[in-house]
Amino acid sequence: MSRKPLALYQALLATQPGDDEAARVRGVRRILQAERSAWPDAVRAVLDGAGVGDGYLLRGLLSIATFAPDVRDALERGLPFVVARRVNRIADPAVRAEVLAPLVALPERPGAALLPRGLSRRIEADALAAITIERSAGMRAHVTAGADGWLVADDPAASPRRLPGHVWLFSPNRGAPRGEEPLAPRVVEALLARLLPRGGALVDVTAGTGTIASVARRFGVRSWSGDIAPLAPFVCRADARTLMASPPRGVSAGCADLLVVHPPTFAVWRLTRSSGRDDQLDLYRDDVGAMIAGSLGVVRPGRHVVVISRPVRRAGEVWLATSHLAEGLEEAGVRVVGYVVAVADGGAEDWHLLIGQLPRSV
Ligand SMILES: C[S@@+](CC[C@H](N)C(=O)[O-])C[C@H]1O[C@@H](n2cnc3c(N)ncnc32)[C@H](O)[C@@H]1O
Repeated sequence: MSRKPLALYQALLATQPGDDEAARVRGVRRILQAERSAWPDAVRAVLDGAGVGDGYLLRGLLSIATFAPDVRDALERGLPFVVARRVNRIADPAVRAEVLAPLVALPERPGAALLPRGLSRRIEADALAAITIERSAGMRAHVTAGADGWLVADDPAASPRRLPGHVWLFSPNRGAPRGEEPLAPRVVEALLARLLPRGGALVDVTAGTGTIASVARRFGVRSWSGDIAPLAPFVCRADARTLMASPPRGVSAGCADLLVVHPPTFAVWRLTRSSGRDDQLDLYRDDVGAMIAGSLGVVRPGRHVVVISRPVRRAGEVWLATSHLAEGLEEAGVRVVGYVVAVADGGAEDWHLLIGQLPRSV
């Protein structure tokens, strides 16, 4: 008997009568909960040959019943079972398809061939990031902005706490999955403390699930959030590259004391572009540069813009995009006045924050 999880699952179900998968799973579960000596011969034959224990793997194995068809297909293509379980927790089928795309794109391989090095880790990391984003979007489903798209600040508001120096050390939220993209709330708080005057206003043009606005409102900061693919109800659909060319309701020249541009990390950006170009980092700089140039008009003279990135380390390679993004800021006429690296305890996360300041008069 094959030890591949899907084949084992199907063989176990085949020991049960009928066509109803859920009923057959219930039948197998009942059998496995009984003493081994009471198992029917057919079930024993499947498991004896499989060389697996009847503990976690078997109870986990039956969760294949809940797997979406694309996740079953991924299992068949050799995705490890634990990674497939994570991918199955992504609710949005389109996002799941994007996470699984590198596996689906592989040429046909003989059954037992191993996946290319680093692929299942990459899929697992993307799945965790997607789950984090979906979870935060769910938590924020009840937060709504005013008719002009601005989220009002909490009253009374706490004062944001600073972090000293240029290397900020912070504790990641306990229990937070190690997704790649959302900015840690403690880092947002320290940014607000350093760059926003009391009662100031913030515009986040790549808000995603709206992490930055959600933190900002606790500290008395009004905010407007936009994203090309919004993930929370208070985030307006807007393209940062054309924000000031056709400003949405609520957005006007000089409406913000701080502009946040937190583009997709280089790795995520590259997933959505054709690969194989050796000038990819330059193209990334141009893309992010267009977001900066297109939205910079919201910033009052003398105030700040922050561009946030992370180095990408994957499959034995590292991409450092920060200096390319600094060039993007300078090309937009902004002086780079600060560079902060925010590092999580244990070194699991590092965020690179480039701070630009607009001239005091234009
Ligand atoms: C790294 S995520 C932002 C995460 C967010 N700051 C947080 O902490 O939750 C990058 C976001 O940029 C958005 N994005 C990409 N291109 C964009 C564009 N041209 N205009 C606006 N948003 C864009 C993506 O949809 C994605 O939500």
